[in-house]
Amino acid sequence: MIHCICNNINTKAVEAAAAKGAETAACVQRACGSRFRCGQCRTDIEQHLRSWRQTRPMLDAAE
Ligand code: FES
Repeated sequence: MIHCICNNINTKAVEAAAAKGAETAACVQRACGSRFRCGQCRTDIEQHLRSWRQTRPMLDAAE
């Protein structure tokens, strides 16, 4: 799924950035070598980061 159309940032990129410590949408943009253009993706990326953090303890336990 594409989260940021302007910079072609998909779910995999958001999760990779989160795994490296990105805690905000701006951090994700920086981790992807980009920055906000229209900003429409900010809320969606933040929601995915929250969701990813909530599921991450379960993933850690499974490893
Ligand atoms: S959709 Fe992400 S900056 Fe436009």
